Amino acid sequence: MLKNSLYSKPTLGIYIHIPFCKSRCIYCDFISSVDDCNQREKYVQYLCQQIKLASGEYADGYTVDTLYFGGGTPTLLDIAQLKHISKEIFDNFNCSLKEFSIEANPCTVDREKLLALKDIGVTRLSIGVQSFNDGLLKMLGRRHDAKRAEEAIKLAIELGFDVSVDAMIGLPNQTQDDVEDFIDRADKLGVEHISVYMLSVEEGTILKKLIEQGKLIAKSDDELADVYEYACKCLKERGFERYEISNFCKNQKVSHHNLRYWQCLDYLGLGMGAHSFTKGERWRNADDFKVYYDGIDYGNYRHDIQKLSKEDMESEYIMLSFRLQNGIDLSEFSQKFGYDFLSKYSHAIEKNKNYLEISKTSISIKYEYLQLMNSIIVDFL
Ligand SMILES: C[S@@+](CC[C@H](N)C(=O)[O-])C[C@H]1O[C@@H](n2cnc3c(N)ncnc32)[C@H](O)[C@@H]1O
Ligand code: SF4
Repeated sequence: MLKNSLYSKPTLGIYIHIPFCKSRCIYCDFISSVDDCNQREKYVQYLCQQIKLASGEYADGYTVDTLYFGGGTPTLLDIAQLKHISKEIFDNFNCSLKEFSIEANPCTVDREKLLALKDIGVTRLSIGVQSFNDGLLKMLGRRHDAKRAEEAIKLAIELGFDVSVDAMIGLPNQTQDDVEDFIDRADKLGVEHISVYMLSVEEGTILKKLIEQGKLIAKSDDELADVYEYACKCLKERGFERYEISNFCKNQKVSHHNLRYWQCLDYLGLGMGAHSFTKGERWRNADDFKVYYDGIDYGNYRHDIQKLSKEDMESEYIMLSFRLQNGIDLSEFSQKFGYDFLSKYSHAIEKNKNYLEISKTSISIKYEYLQLMNSIIVDFL
């Protein structure tokens, strides 16, 4: 028996998925459809219905402490719609929020929208900037240029939001100077959180087709490793601390909501395609509008429910914790699973000892070896 199960935490994070975008960026395979205003209102109605239904199962015993609207492009919804969704959450769940984040595309925010978001209670904006090189932005199919992104960041900071920006690295035609310029400009603008995404070439995307046709040249594995290392170096020089393999911050401005995923804490994902980890179960919502709506009409919206065994939970806990710079908390591990981590995994630790930092209280992957995480972790599973 687990001494202290992973699902006994009384706090909950809620993720809300908004599957609309004005157009599709060439690399993206997220669950999102190109903007259709009629569909949007119907979606909001169903989403609010799902919030009510889910509160029947998940509101009791939990305090919601993080709320995250992601997408897609949640800032495409109008203020009345965003208000409606957040009100439904506040009315149906016991909330004591330490963070309310929303993903924003630079071309969907202006002063009026940001003030209205403040009014709803949003505290943090995660802005999809990707690059400050106009040529690269155009290549990616982004609808904004660098100037527009800078304006959105300045405005958000001026209005008092915590601001995070997304950077994409490893792009065709992207130089190391582009990467350094991104970090430098974000830093000078006062951004305190940067998520760095290594380009992933997904099946079915225009990017994949262009690479296959030889119209864009993908970087080699060595080039990708070099650019990743270079980005980490630039971030470190400017005082950004890496707290997770792809996430960097100053002044402890971590993403509390995303930390829940890596700390194996419960989160409830509502909206099309959203995933949940609640009460020791993983499950997801349908990723098709009709199936999603039908599920809510019939009060049965949970798909692919997977009850995690103690062994599954232990593996997930190890995998996710090693993503964090702080790694595995040894006393938390023994409390949750009833074993001493250092004894149970002594062989894997011995094999990887050059890559690991071991203290009395924790074990983690050394900063310079975090990118080898996948090959290190297999020895622990
Ligand atoms: C779901 S998007 C939400 C942000 C918002 N939709 C936007 O693009 O402005 C979150 C982030 O994932 C990253 N991303 C999406 N597809 C990616 C891919 N194929 N490879 C690497 N990063 C990707 C981008 O940095 C993007 O900002
Ligand atoms: S990257 Fe963001 S804006 Fe672009 S298609 Fe994907 S979700 Fe939409």
